[in-house]
Amino acid sequence: MNNSVERLVIASNRLPFIFKKSGNNWKIEAGSGGLVTALAPVLKDRGGLWVGWPGTFELSSISGLLKTASKKAGYTLKSVQITEEEIQQYYLGFSNEVIWPLFHDLQSYCNFDPDYWTFYKSINKRFALILKKATKPKDFIWIHDYHLMCVAQSLREINIKNKLAFYLHIPFPPLDIFSKLPWRTEILFSLLNYDLIGFQSIRDRNNFIQCLKTFIKGLKLKGKGHVINAIINDRIVKIGSFPISIDYKEFSSLAKSKAVADQAWFIHEDIPNNKIILGIDRLDYTKGITYRLRAFQKLLSTHPELHRKLTLIQVLVPSRRNIPMYQELKLEIEQLVSEINGQYTRSGWVPIHYIYRSLSRKELLAYYRTAEIALITPLKDGMNLIAKEYCASNIEKTGSVILSEFAGAAAQMGENVLLVNPYNIDEVAGAIYTAITMDLKTRKNRMIKLQKSIQKYDIYWWLNSFLNAAMAVKLDKFPKLEKIKSTNKLNKNN
Ligand code: G6P
Repeated sequence: MNNSVERLVIASNRLPFIFKKSGNNWKIEAGSGGLVTALAPVLKDRGGLWVGWPGTFELSSISGLLKTASKKAGYTLKSVQITEEEIQQYYLGFSNEVIWPLFHDLQSYCNFDPDYWTFYKSINKRFALILKKATKPKDFIWIHDYHLMCVAQSLREINIKNKLAFYLHIPFPPLDIFSKLPWRTEILFSLLNYDLIGFQSIRDRNNFIQCLKTFIKGLKLKGKGHVINAIINDRIVKIGSFPISIDYKEFSSLAKSKAVADQAWFIHEDIPNNKIILGIDRLDYTKGITYRLRAFQKLLSTHPELHRKLTLIQVLVPSRRNIPMYQELKLEIEQLVSEINGQYTRSGWVPIHYIYRSLSRKELLAYYRTAEIALITPLKDGMNLIAKEYCASNIEKTGSVILSEFAGAAAQMGENVLLVNPYNIDEVAGAIYTAITMDLKTRKNRMIKLQKSIQKYDIYWWLNSFLNAAMAVKLDKFPKLEKIKSTNKLNKNN
């Protein structure tokens, strides 16, 4: 792409705003998360566009709010209308009962219903038609995540020639698992319509390449490093690894604030003389929560001297409640929590504090700041930003991280965390024990190194490296990014 790139156009399943109905009134809240934080300022400066589903079927009720939100945000928001039945089939069905479990290596959880695929393709086509209408020839179109893998193909079919990029936020599975997908070749061919395909880690990128080699005849691969070229029908498709991150500065400066410090103090004050082990996850079967609880139970049974001295705070953020497997998991977790608490609770000490709701930003940061140990044990995860957020908020630099070797974050943080196989209950119990008994100097050394690296490879680094790979020019066309880069430089020199 040359210097005349017009705008950055983003498409993702959800818009970066949440529309909520309370009584008869609608409220709008800014979405959170790395993607919104990183892309919103760029879109604002370049007059960009974000296309997505607003999370409601009552589109006419929110059209005014959408306009207000667009004005406030400084970029255009375009909603995609999706009916209840379509959400059932495309989002809950294909995206979350086929791709989500399969790409997290949980093939036995998949429901390969052929109707899901039909709806998935048709909603991807709808996104493409909206994009065609709303974009100009020099716009750079960047599609996000597993809900929208086929948008590029639909765009090419309707003669869109723009540069198209795709980023997969979740893992890409190994060949023998991906091979189970009835629509494996179609998905691979669809993805090859993008000009750049980004993954969270080299692990995922290599899995994808192996699948291409197996199922796509006549494909050539060239180059090495974090971005390599696939050549197909004389077209070059770049395929790279771009580990996503967080706005480190924002997390660490908010965590330092008095409000967060006070709240952190109150949390610990309630459980004096206890070390806090913190688990925070969306309620999802990929997060390994039942294995984690069993590991904690094992620790309590093998180390009675730790009773009354440690508390596991497990926060579960409600998610995808319409999918039966998520409802069943919630019951299973709650049963296990009450079993363990029933077994070990003594007057003045409840071993597991279970929280089932979303936390406010302040609460979240306070838990991060005050917890001695972060226990992050997904069975598989694209990245896991909780691991990075915990480190950025660990102002005292005395915390430890126990991290699943199957989280994308392990590739970047592995040397300074306690890596575990989340399926190995004994190993996880042992790692908690090691973390509790680790000396202060080792903990500090590790946390300082973790913080340095997360600060260096932050969300702006991610954004820059992806856009640079996509456009092959420095991003002087994106003024805000230039500012961000110089701020990063300043930070580095300080
Ligand atoms: C994962 C996916 C995101 C998704 C999020 C929440 O992080 O990578 O694309 O938005 O989960 O899930 P939901 O189904 O509520 O959008």
